[in-house]
Amino acid sequence: MSGVAQEQLHSISRSAAWGALEAHARELGPHHLRELFAADAGRGERLAIDAIGIYLDYSKNRITDETIRLLLALAEEASLRERIDAMFGGDKVNVSEDRAALHVALRAPRNAVFRVDGDNVVPEVHAVLDRMAGFCDRVRSGAWRGHGGKPIRNVINIGIGGSDLGPVMAYEALRHYSRRDLRFRFVSNVDGTDFAEATRDLAADETLFIVASKTFTTQETMTNARSARDWTLAAFGGEASAVARHFVAVSTNTDAVTAFGIAADHMFGFWDWVGGRYSMDSAIGLSTMLAIGPDHFHAMLAGFHAMDEHFHGAPFEANLPVLMGLLGVWNNNFLGARTLAVLPYEQYLKRFPAYLQQLTMESNGKRVRLDGRPVGCETGPIYWGEPGTNGQHSFYQLIHQGTRLIPCDFIAFGESLNPLGAHHELLLANVLAQSEALAFGKTADEVRAEGTPEELVPHRVFEGNRPSNTLLLERLTPAALGTLVALYEHSVFTQATIWNIDPFDQWGVELGKQLARRIVPELSGDAAPAHDSSTNALIRRCRALRAGRT
Ligand code: F6P
Repeated sequence: MSGVAQEQLHSISRSAAWGALEAHARELGPHHLRELFAADAGRGERLAIDAIGIYLDYSKNRITDETIRLLLALAEEASLRERIDAMFGGDKVNVSEDRAALHVALRAPRNAVFRVDGDNVVPEVHAVLDRMAGFCDRVRSGAWRGHGGKPIRNVINIGIGGSDLGPVMAYEALRHYSRRDLRFRFVSNVDGTDFAEATRDLAADETLFIVASKTFTTQETMTNARSARDWTLAAFGGEASAVARHFVAVSTNTDAVTAFGIAADHMFGFWDWVGGRYSMDSAIGLSTMLAIGPDHFHAMLAGFHAMDEHFHGAPFEANLPVLMGLLGVWNNNFLGARTLAVLPYEQYLKRFPAYLQQLTMESNGKRVRLDGRPVGCETGPIYWGEPGTNGQHSFYQLIHQGTRLIPCDFIAFGESLNPLGAHHELLLANVLAQSEALAFGKTADEVRAEGTPEELVPHRVFEGNRPSNTLLLERLTPAALGTLVALYEHSVFTQATIWNIDPFDQWGVELGKQLARRIVPELSGDAAPAHDSSTNALIRRCRALRAGRT
C-alpha cells in the first residue's frame, strides 16, 4: 500500500470518501423515504440481495444508489478487500494480541486449506469435530454411562461470554432439531442462584457438565465448575473418580483442565486464533452437537461456510455482510443513529439479540485504531432487541414515535417450524407491517381523513422515514442459523475495517476483573478498603450487611 493510502487508512474520517458521504447525507437529509419510493418504482426490488438462502431488502434505508456507490468507495479507501484477504489468509489481524482470527477455518470442509504460521489448521479442526461426534454419539445412544452406571439425561454447559452465549443461543434456536429426552441447561453467572436453580431438580448421577472456557481461568466459570464438582462428589460420597464420568472440558488450556481433574482425553480443544465470541462453531459448540447431533451440527457449519465463501468472493455491491456492514456505518456515522434493534420474528431466535450483543459490542466497542491512536469517529452502536411480536407491545412505541433514530434489522422466515392455524400468517403480516409503518408513517392529513379530532392529530402522526433492513429466509434450519451468524460476524468485521479498529480483542473487560479480585478479600476482612470514598463506603456497607447489621 502506498504511503498516501496508508495515511488515509489511518484517518478514514478525514478521507475524501468520508467527506463525500457527509456531503451526500446533507443533500439527502430532506428527502423522505416516501419520496424516494415514489420517485423510483423499482426501488423495493433493486435495493435487495438474494444470496445463499437470505433475501436482504435494504430499500427501506435512507439511501439512494449514490449512497451505495459512495459507501463502496469508502470500503475501497479502507482497503476492505485486502483486510478480508488478510483475515482469510491467517494474518495476525488481531494486532493487539498478535493473533490470527481464523474462525472461518472452523467451518471449512475437510479438504480446504487455511494456514496459521504456515501450517494448515483444517485437519486439526476436523480431528476435534470427529472426536466431538464420537463423544456425542456415545452420550446420545446411552453408551456413555455416569459413575453410577446410568445414562446421561441432563447436560449442563458451564461457561460465560462466548463460551455461553453461542451455545445457549444455538440450543434455543435449534431446539426443534434437538433430542427432547435430553435436558440442556446453561450456567454462566457467578451468582450462585444460577447454579442452584440449574441443578435443584436434577439427579447428579444422570448429569454431565461441560466446562467451556477458552482460558480455563475465568473467575465465574471456574467458580461454577468447582461448585459443580462439589455437587457431583457429594452425590457419590466424595469418590473423586466420579469426576471422569460427569465432566468434560472445552478449552485451549490443557494444563488447567487436567489440574481441575478432567483427563486430557475428555477435553475438546480449540486454538488461540478462535476468539471467544467467534467460537460457537468450535468445540465450544459441544452442547449444541449433543442436542442436535453431529449431522445437524455439520449442516450448521456448512451454512457458516457458505456465508464465508460469499463474503470472500462476492462483489461488494452484491455482498450481504459488506452491504449490511456499510449500511450500519451509514446509519451510525452519517445519520447519527446510536443503537440498532435486532428484531427476529421467530421465537426460537429469542436469544439471538443477546448473542449479537457480545459479537457486535465486544468486537466494535473500541475507541482507538489499530495503531493505538484515537479513532476520530463513532464506532460500534448499541445492539439490542427482542423477538417480535412481543416488542411491538413494549418498546416499538419509541421506535415509531420517539425522538431518536433507531435502525432495525427485521428477521423473518417464510415457513414456521410449528405450523399452527393462522399464527404464521399473522407473524409475517406483523413483521412486514412494522417495516412499512416505520418507513412510510402516517401524515397529519391521513390522520385527519380518518376523522381524528384536531387536538389528537399530532399524537397520531407517524413521522416515518425510519430505516430498516428485512432479512427473509425460507425456514430456520441449522444451515440457516450458520449463514445468519456468519453474516453478522462478517458485517462486524466490515465495520471494524472501515473504522480501522481491532474487532478481535476485548481489553475493556480487564479493569473490572482486576478490581473485583482486589475487592474480594476486602469484603470479608477488617482492614480499611483502599479505593475512592464511594467504593470504600459501599464495601463497608456490604460488610455490615453480610454481618447482619446496617
Ligand atoms: O468477557 C471477556 C471474555 O474473554 C470473552 O471474550 C469470552 O468469551 C469470555 O470472557 C469467556 O472467556 P473464557 O472462554 O476464556 O472463559
